[in-house]
Amino acid sequence: MAPLPKTMRAVVCAEPEGIDVLRLQDVPIPTPANGQVLIEILCFGINRAATCMGGLGREIPGSYAEYTCVDAGNIRPIPSTSLPVSVLASLPEMMQTTWGSLVSGLDLQAGETLLVRGATSSIGLCALQLARRLGATRIAGTTRSAAREQMLRDSGADEVFVDHGEIADQVAQGPKGGFDKVLELNGATTLRGSLKCTVAKGTVCMTGIQSGSWELDQFYPISDLPNRVRLCAYGGGPEDFHEMPFEQIVKDVEEGKVKIPVK
Ligand SMILES: NC(=O)c1ccc[n+]([C@@H]2O[C@H](COP(=O)([O-])OP(=O)(O)OC[C@H]3O[C@@H](n4cnc5c(N)ncnc54)[C@H](OP(=O)(O)O)[C@@H]3O)[C@@H](O)[C@H]2O)c1
Repeated sequence: MAPLPKTMRAVVCAEPEGIDVLRLQDVPIPTPANGQVLIEILCFGINRAATCMGGLGREIPGSYAEYTCVDAGNIRPIPSTSLPVSVLASLPEMMQTTWGSLVSGLDLQAGETLLVRGATSSIGLCALQLARRLGATRIAGTTRSAAREQMLRDSGADEVFVDHGEIADQVAQGPKGGFDKVLELNGATTLRGSLKCTVAKGTVCMTGIQSGSWELDQFYPISDLPNRVRLCAYGGGPEDFHEMPFEQIVKDVEEGKVKIPVK
């Protein structure tokens, strides 16, 4: 192996204020601590949300650099694949979040129904497709724009709701009623309504904050949570990263069974 250079290029975010404060800089290549490994980064995925969650890289400095150090327990080998590295690099975060929300969070079972609130996001489009592969039968997605209905149908949505903040009445009055499981990607702005779109013993998983709204104002669990409806959240973690069937997901993407919205 060729000796490592002393410095690398890194995207540095001094303040968590958005992508206009990012700087490309030369910085020293980090030295792994005990129990860590140094990895070379060929390509990385970036989604809009990463710029809103307290800065790039979240908890690990160096995610947007040519090299980074990670705990040895937090890495997985890359499966053999013909996918371009740009697509491959987008998969771990996107798929861990989608898989974790549907499986760990919602415990989505074959034959169940699913509503994805905020479904035109990258996580939402993946969720529609993975839900189908997990055997969900009635899959619906929301968007604020009627022009995006076809995008959702192309990703597998059976039903599309145009969502200007409140869809519970439309869902309740529709022929099929509420959903067994609801994936909330919009955030606190629509969470109360999502709970109302859920059938008794159904579950809502709060995963995203596309609206930018993290907190529920004046949350009264006994009145805000409909009787017998469950609420959980998905925040990701190394255990989910390891449990995700990454090899199968890579194969599904390679074979075109799951289409990845990478720009
Ligand atoms: N929990 C975790 O571990 C985890 C990990 C990764 C990401 N996430 C979250 O997952 C969500 C999806 O991430 P992403 O990168 O896939 O998002 P994204 O692609 O950037 O989402 C874009 C979509 O957000 C919708 N949107 C934009 N502004 C909105 C607003 N003010 N109100 C409601 N919807 C709005 C738009 O849908 P329309 O215009 O079609 O309505 C747009 O298509 C994010 O909230 C992110 O924070 C969570």
